[in-house]
Amino acid sequence: MMDYSLRCTKCSHAEADDAFRCSRCGSILEVRIDYSSIMIGKAFRSRRVKNSKYLLLFPIKRFEMEGGEGGTRLVSHNIGAQKVMFKMETENPTGSFKDRGSAVEISKAVELGRNSVCCASTGNMGMSVARYAKLAGISATIFISKDASKEKIARIKSYGARLVKVDGDFNTALRNAEAFARKDRTFMCGDYHFRKEGQKSVAYEIIDQCGSPDFIFLPVGNATLLSAVYKGLSEYVRFGLLDSMPRIVAVQSEKCDPLVRAYMSGRHLEYVKPKTVADAIAVGYPTFGLEGIAALKKTHGIAVNVSEDQLRDAILMLEEKGIGAEAGGAAGFAGFMKFYENDREMFRGKKTVIVITGNN
Ligand code: F0G
Repeated sequence: MMDYSLRCTKCSHAEADDAFRCSRCGSILEVRIDYSSIMIGKAFRSRRVKNSKYLLLFPIKRFEMEGGEGGTRLVSHNIGAQKVMFKMETENPTGSFKDRGSAVEISKAVELGRNSVCCASTGNMGMSVARYAKLAGISATIFISKDASKEKIARIKSYGARLVKVDGDFNTALRNAEAFARKDRTFMCGDYHFRKEGQKSVAYEIIDQCGSPDFIFLPVGNATLLSAVYKGLSEYVRFGLLDSMPRIVAVQSEKCDPLVRAYMSGRHLEYVKPKTVADAIAVGYPTFGLEGIAALKKTHGIAVNVSEDQLRDAILMLEEKGIGAEAGGAAGFAGFMKFYENDREMFRGKKTVIVITGNN
């Protein structure tokens, strides 16, 4: 396994593996990797994309379950005369990219000898954590808004997880989950450092499948995916597997766009009360917001919001291409369409990847 340490993203204080926030300042943590401890062989690049290929880039000894996540297709489609590529994260076992993060964070919980995990979710992550905990033979408690999708709540229960419905939005559920984890000494899963590590493989696979894209469009809730994709790309640059950084385009709904507002105005990240049809990304205050903004700055990235109608149109357009996606999962594509309709030249001759993140 690679050498790494856990550090606070703000004050660099070192923490033990089962911490989920800095014990000094409360900020989130990062896995600081000693890259000299990772050996990428010559055959690495040409090996088939599947999650086990990337084990050496994850901070775990092994996968503690056969989850079947990752190895999703990158498929080309034409939007008018423009070719784009969709990264089909809907092909993961629970229908979203969340399975990549769950495989890593729950393997870590097992490695640390923990037998219970908890997490807060808008739905998809709860489903994924519930499934992976079940596969690993440990128990899961999921905190979710009482207003969350009934179908998602039913799926979480079907994996045998305990459900705690919270009177409030995702950020209220998150505060409850963190208080529970501290009191109950339960391993905290969800949008924290180990999940971020697992979700880096979205980036590894995109590069292994298409070389060097110019743009990567993705939706933002807690901005863990955004931060993870940036970290994955940076690692590929470091290992000589990628020559130039793609521009990342982060997409949120107009009805819940704290990261877009902060990035575009240069002001502080502020809580926005979520009111969007894109329930998956209805996160009023993104946990990885500051990291996400830094990632956009470093890739000359763009942050854009889309209307509820643009989200609905994106779902229908994808459906016509035989691609099922929920509103949050289609948001990256809605963001692409917003630019494309205004300025077709922007994408001419460019390699554009759009991550379709979920279909629940
Ligand atoms: N797409 C889907 C389908 C999601 O479920 C989420 C997040 C995102 C995009 C955004 O990813 O949070 O890393 O920026 N869902 C979380 C959940 C919040 O609880 O399922 P992010």
